[in-house]
Amino acid sequence: MQFYSPKNNRYDAIQYNRCGRSGLKLPTVSLGLWHNFGNVDSFKNARTMMRRAFDLGITHFDLANNYGPPPGSAEENFGKILKKDFSSYRDELIFSTKAGYQMWQGPYGDWGSRKYLVASLDQSLRRMGLEYVDIFYHHRPDPEIPLEETMQALHQIVTSGKALYAGISNYPPELTLKASKILRSLGTPCLIHQAKYSMFNRWVEKGLLNVLKKEGIGCIAFSPLAQGLLTSKYLDGIPEDSRAAKPHGFLKREEVTEDKISKIRQLNTLAQQRGQTMAQMALAWVLRHPEMTSVLIGASRVSQIDDAVGALKNTAFSSKELKAIDTILK
Ligand SMILES: NC(=O)c1ccc[n+]([C@@H]2O[C@H](COP(=O)([O-])OP(=O)(O)OC[C@H]3O[C@@H](n4cnc5c(N)ncnc54)[C@H](OP(=O)(O)O)[C@@H]3O)[C@@H](O)[C@H]2O)c1
Repeated sequence: MQFYSPKNNRYDAIQYNRCGRSGLKLPTVSLGLWHNFGNVDSFKNARTMMRRAFDLGITHFDLANNYGPPPGSAEENFGKILKKDFSSYRDELIFSTKAGYQMWQGPYGDWGSRKYLVASLDQSLRRMGLEYVDIFYHHRPDPEIPLEETMQALHQIVTSGKALYAGISNYPPELTLKASKILRSLGTPCLIHQAKYSMFNRWVEKGLLNVLKKEGIGCIAFSPLAQGLLTSKYLDGIPEDSRAAKPHGFLKREEVTEDKISKIRQLNTLAQQRGQTMAQMALAWVLRHPEMTSVLIGASRVSQIDDAVGALKNTAFSSKELKAIDTILK
């Protein structure tokens, strides 16, 4: 591939929102590397997508230790792309990674112990060829070990300089509040909560957003398109090259149900009336909350990144439109 020089006007298309009450701003659209960056995927396509994202002002890329497949390969491929194309731009970019799901065998390769989190981040940094990440997350709550230990591990990681900020993911509201209080008492405030949120999964509306607002924690919504369901892609069946058709995709064929398709069809009509694609309306809808710092999208091709950034042209909803969406989603 040709030498990469990012576009000079890359900061014109997107807004940057303050993450809670922190000093950090994140782009309204961020790109996640959960799918399409593993060793089973095209490296050239992955590289092209990262270039396009940065050209559009997407400064935030999200990873986890286990992204692939195989686990770890997304971080390795990302590291190779960084070295080839982005080594001069480290200070313009925000990288995050996480630990919390099974990564290696034995009792120290999963969940939320200090042993696991510290070792996992060291491995991630080696795979990506980085000295530090900007955000390090605990990926999911550990029901067994004391919350204090996991939060102390995040604090230790930040004070050691291996991450600039600490975040949590998939924590329910009450536990988020407890985690936030512990982190603040340690002197490392919780920067951000990474939570699943889309028209098909509205759990954050039942308490989490209130806690985040009160605690001054930012929110980044993952799978805002419900892994691609909230687009027009599945309206006429399951395309060969879609996530639902891929053996390693996390969206299963049986999740593409008649009931969901019928809702998407109605939502799609509404999106057309708004002059947007279905995906754009789904992203704009997630962003309607003032607590929402960023939508964390996935992409399998460049055009999907263009489509997502295009959503920012129309993020306002009338109360009539919101009501119509609620009625369809019931
Ligand atoms: N913290 C956690 O526990 C957690 C869990 C999951 C994900 N995440 C993060 O969230 C990120 C995003 O998750 P996600 O990939 O599920 O997000 P998503 O945005 O809901 O789904 C992305 C997928 O939808 C399809 N798509 C996107 N734009 C489209 C468009 N305009 N038209 C048609 N199809 C479109 C593509 O799949 P096709 O292959 O079908 O084209 C794409 O890969 C991940 O990469 C990861 O960083 C975090």
